[in-house]
Amino acid sequence: MSLPAAQSANPLRDPRDRRLPRIAGSCGLVMFGVTGDLARKKLMPAVYDLANRGLLPPAFALTGFARREWGREDFENVVYESVKQHARTPFREETWEQLSSGIRFVQGTFDDPAAFERLRETVEELDAERGTDGNHAFYLSIPPSAFPQVVRSLADSGLSAPREGTWRRVVIEKPFGHNLESADELDAIVSEVFPPDAVFRIDHYLGKETVQNLLALRFANQLFEPIWNNQYIDHVQITMAEDIGIGSRAGYYDGIGQARDVIQNHLLQLFALTAMEEPATFDAHDLRLEKEKVLRAASVPRDISAHTARGQYAAGWRGGELVGGFLDEDGIAPDSETETYAAIRLDVRNRRWAGTPFYLRAGKRLGRRVTEIALVFKKAPSPYFQEIAGTDVGNNALVIRVQPDEGVTLRFGSKVPGTAMEVRDVTMDFAYGNSFTESSPEAYERLILDVLLGDPPLFPRHEEVQLSWKLLDPVLEHWSRQGQPEPYRSGTWGPVGADLMMERDGRTWRRP
Ligand SMILES: NC(=O)c1ccc[n+]([C@@H]2O[C@H](COP(=O)([O-])OP(=O)(O)OC[C@H]3O[C@@H](n4cnc5c(N)ncnc54)[C@H](OP(=O)(O)O)[C@@H]3O)[C@@H](O)[C@H]2O)c1
Repeated sequence: MSLPAAQSANPLRDPRDRRLPRIAGSCGLVMFGVTGDLARKKLMPAVYDLANRGLLPPAFALTGFARREWGREDFENVVYESVKQHARTPFREETWEQLSSGIRFVQGTFDDPAAFERLRETVEELDAERGTDGNHAFYLSIPPSAFPQVVRSLADSGLSAPREGTWRRVVIEKPFGHNLESADELDAIVSEVFPPDAVFRIDHYLGKETVQNLLALRFANQLFEPIWNNQYIDHVQITMAEDIGIGSRAGYYDGIGQARDVIQNHLLQLFALTAMEEPATFDAHDLRLEKEKVLRAASVPRDISAHTARGQYAAGWRGGELVGGFLDEDGIAPDSETETYAAIRLDVRNRRWAGTPFYLRAGKRLGRRVTEIALVFKKAPSPYFQEIAGTDVGNNALVIRVQPDEGVTLRFGSKVPGTAMEVRDVTMDFAYGNSFTESSPEAYERLILDVLLGDPPLFPRHEEVQLSWKLLDPVLEHWSRQGQPEPYRSGTWGPVGADLMMERDGRTWRRP
């Protein structure tokens, strides 16, 4: 994370000089699951983009581990194709040659000790020939059910244990379990093998520029923090809407659903960053401490039926195209009770937020793709303006647009030109694209670089994972007794139950 006090493996870097790029020291990245969707679309292109931006050391090595009967050249071709298709920076022969000279491949299955022995030998050869200096990160881009097996195999082969003065790290993709119990089981296995500071849990939302801008917006300015509380803010809405359905992810998604897939991690992280107090410093310890404090102070109201909603998309429209429902998707059981829309209300028991609820919602096949945090202010007390404003003026709102069109919007009432005193809502916009010429790095670029640098603020630790499951588990248990989720038409903004949930509180959802 580009905040002060970041640890760097680069001895040439003065940690106080924030203008210098943060370049990782000599190291290797071992990737498990290289044929998977995530590795091909995001991880390998991100590694290339880092190399292209000059942020990887010359001695960097990328090793793929997969069960395919491939040789080194086959893997190199896979990386090449994925870079050509998905990298964000232009293709440069020079970068590719440098990167490809450090590519290795090990064939094997996760439970094969001989394959891990070959991986150990490969890593040692890289240390000797390429100069990776014994520093290696293991990226588990694999089905969650395989995490324990791979972590054990890394331990049994000795790969997890660094020599004096070197490091070994493990990178785990979400989901971190499917409830508190399974998250604890997973953590018990991982922490038996790796110390806490060597475990990097990826929540790629935290790598997004706009999410980090939330910290800058709140704490680098004097303007917002004084009104960032229950005196001025009526409620907060955090929305993650997708217009697509589950696509080819049926195998993963059925039985998991929207709350486990994105609320437990992305949305609760956005909630924590929005609601937390100012950390003493922005290093990993202090930042995580504040996030944990506010997650601990949050709760779902006792009447779960009244303050949550769940739905499942039915046939409808996506853009101009007629689309089928969730139950018609390939690989989904015809009586599946998995929710594709989830909404929950959170109350925060502290002085800043008591009486100001947070509403979190996430859904597939909604009206459009948008992720935003909207702070909706209380109405101005002026009776005169309340009377003349009528219904044209809503509450003031500060909206942080996480994606797409990253930026910030402020909505407020303004006089309509003319002789009469008429007020209407207007917006003031900040768009990243208009104010900065630098393009934001992809979230995975930043996160992979942070893993290689050993810079942990953007990675949740197990306590945060536990606290999020503690919030969600009772809701999920309650829902599991409700049978089929309420259907909603594809292309709309979710089930009627979600509107009723807000109506009971005298509020409405935003239509972004
Ligand atoms: N896709 C995303 O956008 C996304 C986003 C956030 C998090 N994630 C998480 O990232 C991880 C990977 O996701 P994904 O979408 O890339 O999954 P995926 O497309 O299903 O790929 C899984 C990978 O694991 C390998 N694999 C599975 N079982 C194996 C075994 N027994 N032995 C050896 N290799 C095995 C597969 O190899 P084969 O080709 O040989 O089967 C494949 O390379 C998951 O934990 C997922 O939850 C994904």
